Amino acid sequence: MKITVVGAGNVGATCADVIAHKELANEVILIDIKEGLAEGKSLDMWQTAPVNYYNTRVVGYTNQYEPTAGSDVVVITSGLPRKPGMSRDDLIATNAGIVRTVTENIIKYSPDAKIIVVSNPLDVMTYCAYLTAQVDSSRVMGMAGILDTARYRAFLASELNVSPKDIQAMLLGGHGDTMVPLPRYTTVSGIPVTELIDEEPLNAIVERTKKGGGELVNLMGTSAWYAPGAAAAQMVEAIVRDQKRIFPVCTWLTGQYGLSDIYLGVPVVLGKNGIEKIIELKLNDAEMALVNQSAKAVREVMSVLDNMNAKAAE
Ligand code: NAI
Ligand code: 2OP
Repeated sequence: MKITVVGAGNVGATCADVIAHKELANEVILIDIKEGLAEGKSLDMWQTAPVNYYNTRVVGYTNQYEPTAGSDVVVITSGLPRKPGMSRDDLIATNAGIVRTVTENIIKYSPDAKIIVVSNPLDVMTYCAYLTAQVDSSRVMGMAGILDTARYRAFLASELNVSPKDIQAMLLGGHGDTMVPLPRYTTVSGIPVTELIDEEPLNAIVERTKKGGGELVNLMGTSAWYAPGAAAAQMVEAIVRDQKRIFPVCTWLTGQYGLSDIYLGVPVVLGKNGIEKIIELKLNDAEMALVNQSAKAVREVMSVLDNMNAKAAE
């Protein structure tokens, strides 16, 4: 099993580190455009192996794709992160150029890889990778929902003073302030969350979740990495271990939820073939209205990319 992580910055390096600790592959290739960064971080990680008792070898290269050949899974984290005052969508022009070039190189050397996009704006960068890769949509997906539900679950665990392990939740929509955490699909060890928490604090947690990325950008001056890196590694794990896990994943929709030709977060079954099934929840009218609102916001940014691509083709 071979895994490549592109971008050795905060999220990429964290993701590679988690993959190595979990021994999800014999070899992890870490790539960055900045001279020496991937090599240095990989060497540092390898030197934790004797301390933390794992065998996975992480090897870094500067903008070289030959060593990635034959990767089973590739995680794309290359791109600019958000700075205070920036929305995820502000990143589109720069990051689209980066994601396109990286995807071309990945597909050239690993034509059968499953691709997990992390770069922002997430839903549209996943669309960009899909347009570039020209492979079945089951193999091109974006990581956001696991992170966003993790934030929601962590906030609930703190509020209820219970283990985060016991909180199960689902969330739909784009990776932005219009994301749709679903209290009706949230349980604490099987107990509906609404039986344990009043409406007002629950609504406050839903609102905090939607702005969870921005909260961290404001605190740190750049976006988060521990939870995003771990969340991307959890998707890698589901694929390489063929776990058939159900996660919210940014997925190409072809009529599900009444939506087509859009990348949006929905529950899927994730296994060795990538997205093996899209699960359609029976949403009520209010929930569906929120999903439609989120889809509208994503489509607006997708059209920015489509217009950029059309101009480039003129
Ligand atoms: P970072 O700045 O720490 O790392 C990005 C790395 O990409 C840098 O080391 C940079 O040199 C590298 N890079 C730039 N162009 C490249 C290219 N053409 N080829 C290879 N490497 C290249 O940023 P961070 O914090 O790791 O974030 C990475 C991306 O992930 C950002 O777009 C950020 O907004 C996004 N993100 C997405 C999340 C999600 O839930 N989907 C969560 C957190 C971050
Ligand atoms: C996050 O949610 C900014 O997408 C980044 O942390």
